[in-house]
Amino acid sequence: MTQDQTTATTPRNSLTLIDNRTGRSMELPIKPGTIGPVVADIRKVYGTLDLFTYDPGFTSTASCESRITYIDGDKGVLLYRGYPIEQLAEQSNFLEVCYLLLKGELPSLPQAKDFRKQFTQHSMIHEQMQFFLRGFRRDAHPMAVLCGLVGAMSAFYHDSTDINDPVQRELASIRLIAKLPTLAAVAHKYSIGQPLVYPNNRLSYVENFLAMTFSVPTEPWEGNPVLTRAMEKIFILHADHEQNASTSTVRLAGSSGANPFACIAAGIASLWGPAHGGANEAVLAMLGQIGNKKNIPDFLDKVKNKNEHARLMGFGHRVYKNFDPRATVLRQAAEEVLKELGINDPLLELAMELEQIALRDPYFIERKLYPNVDFYSGIILRAMGFPVSMFTVLFAVARTVGWISQWREMIEDSEQKIGRPRQLYVGSPQRDFVAINQR
Ligand code: SDX
Repeated sequence: MTQDQTTATTPRNSLTLIDNRTGRSMELPIKPGTIGPVVADIRKVYGTLDLFTYDPGFTSTASCESRITYIDGDKGVLLYRGYPIEQLAEQSNFLEVCYLLLKGELPSLPQAKDFRKQFTQHSMIHEQMQFFLRGFRRDAHPMAVLCGLVGAMSAFYHDSTDINDPVQRELASIRLIAKLPTLAAVAHKYSIGQPLVYPNNRLSYVENFLAMTFSVPTEPWEGNPVLTRAMEKIFILHADHEQNASTSTVRLAGSSGANPFACIAAGIASLWGPAHGGANEAVLAMLGQIGNKKNIPDFLDKVKNKNEHARLMGFGHRVYKNFDPRATVLRQAAEEVLKELGINDPLLELAMELEQIALRDPYFIERKLYPNVDFYSGIILRAMGFPVSMFTVLFAVARTVGWISQWREMIEDSEQKIGRPRQLYVGSPQRDFVAINQR
């Protein structure tokens, strides 16, 4: 229907949907946001037109209203509660960003002090969890260990599982954000056979994580401010990212009323996939497979050949069709960390050469494929001494505050109900059972 064909009574802030098979039509209310695309409210479509909308992968579907994070994929913009990610990465710290994501505003100095104090009271894990940990093989992937330990938290912290009690929701939020670094460090120490290191509340959140991961009882711990700042930036950049796969998993799990620990464990499981948070680990594997610069053209030819099913890991994004602003910050951080450590990492040079070649290649230009957050993070983490298998664990530590913030927003949203998508059924029509001796 063109503009001049709309009837005078058609409200302007609506979309007219006409089923040309029957001539039946309906008005879809248009809901504007603060910035970004408006939405057409389709909740009454099935009841009115007896048909479902179809959107595999939800590329054109808004699942909720949110005030937490805004992304403009075409402009490469990422805002946490309205603040540009570049400014937060350069000027803020991770706990302050946690406060911002959870509560919607940057904290005052007294609020920041009180907030940090809460975390110091919850940074240890229950001593019994060590016995749960010892059930894993030493060579278990740390994401499997983390997923198990976080899910098991609901067996240890019964006084923060009632999702209908705001006090318990707050306590669960603090416990998860405070304990994830401890659990991540525990998973790492267990895998390398070193003694577990208790949290040290005199250190900052990020310093404490690095100390629990890399310190040993036999020597005093000496932190490196450049590495701490790089880790702080990595945590800030990974803290939240709108309705990505793992966040949508947390929201969907939470919509059934599952306890917060189970919901975050579900988010960890989803993040583990190589198309999502597992990409940072996959980038290092890909760079290792390429080996050196002279092999780049052959590798890219494989990527362009659909039959090879190869992808340029760390490139492309469902939303960003421009540079991922996080990749830009991480590229600079990678250079700073390697310079500080005096490391001349051939993989960084290979990554930069690969980036330059890919950015000039029509295949990637036509598909708007640019480096994403995962392209450089692995280079930094490897330089800092993390095993590749820990990369996605670090992503999960940082993203926990985003998952929790989105989970709380979902529970407090009066419009939210249990998530239950429908389908287009293309299977067999109804048929009668046939006994096995007649098949
Ligand atoms: C994260 O959603 C989030 O916000 C996630 C995240 C977050 O912070 O939570 O940002 C974190 O997950 C970052 C993305 C990390 N993943 C990777 O780096 C894995 C490599 N990238 C891709 O697999 C892919 O780009 C996705 C999964 C990230 C996005 O996939 P889309 O948007 O569904 O892209 P698509 O599959 O529709 O691709 C469009 C075209 C296709 O080619 P044609 O069929 O049109 O010929 O681009 C091609 C794809 O084959 N393509 C790639 C490619 N990514 C897409 N070709 C080569 N290498 C790639 N990486």
